[in-house]
Amino acid sequence: MDNRPIGVFDSGLGGLTVVKSLCSFLPNENIVYFGDTGRVPYGTRSRETIETYAKQDAAFLLSKDVKLIIAACGTVSSVAPDTGKNLPVPYFGVVEPAAKAAAKHTKTGRIGVIGTTATIRSGAYEQALLKINKRFLIRSVDCPLFVPIVEAGWIDDDEVAMLTAKRYLKTIKDFDVDTLILGCTHYPLLSKTIAQIMGPQVTLISAGAAAAAHCVEVLKENALLCAKENNGTHSFYVTDRPDGFSKTAEIFLQQDFTGDVTRVQVD
Ligand code: DGL
Repeated sequence: MDNRPIGVFDSGLGGLTVVKSLCSFLPNENIVYFGDTGRVPYGTRSRETIETYAKQDAAFLLSKDVKLIIAACGTVSSVAPDTGKNLPVPYFGVVEPAAKAAAKHTKTGRIGVIGTTATIRSGAYEQALLKINKRFLIRSVDCPLFVPIVEAGWIDDDEVAMLTAKRYLKTIKDFDVDTLILGCTHYPLLSKTIAQIMGPQVTLISAGAAAAAHCVEVLKENALLCAKENNGTHSFYVTDRPDGFSKTAEIFLQQDFTGDVTRVQVD
């Protein structure tokens, strides 16, 4: 039994989609969330920069005495997979859990992947999928405009989101996939739009939700679950002004946000 918090980090606030899933799977766990709002986005940056940022983010969470770290950021998970090497606590990103979930759901072996430009350029999801089954046929597309669209709150039936998604998803739809990995923190917010375009025969896999489900397994395997009577507390840290946090947080959490947000410096 271990009541230390779970640490979750992301380039910004998109990783709150992982916190949302964690809260539903593990309501008693304490969570420390770190969002690098001062340096977001990561998805357009170089590998070296993303690696440096990711190390600093993980080090910050360790300073909060976390028992496990989740890189909620699709970009960090794909581009800087070695961030967890030599850390004193279990560490994982969203790529392997999402690949496993996709492999479980696909019947035809035709899988689509969408993510930021850095994520798709890294080929990390393809590698993880082909490691599971080298016969999988994969089509990947970067969808950089999805991040600002979600942050603007243009979700659900928004026509800009719909037109943008139609254009991005065309090659994946033409490839006739039966499973599509949403490989970025922000994309689950566009699930409704994406599902409408892809059709009911395509299963959408949210990388963040898959990582949260994986977290349950890792905590169990390592005897790190908190006490059943623990009253889960959540703390939030950001690297830019915290005002405006609640408004954006509410987009990702899909519920009212109440909580303390502290500004910190990590570089
Ligand atoms: N959090 C990033 C991801 O999941 C999206 C935003 C960014 O580009 O930093 O890839």
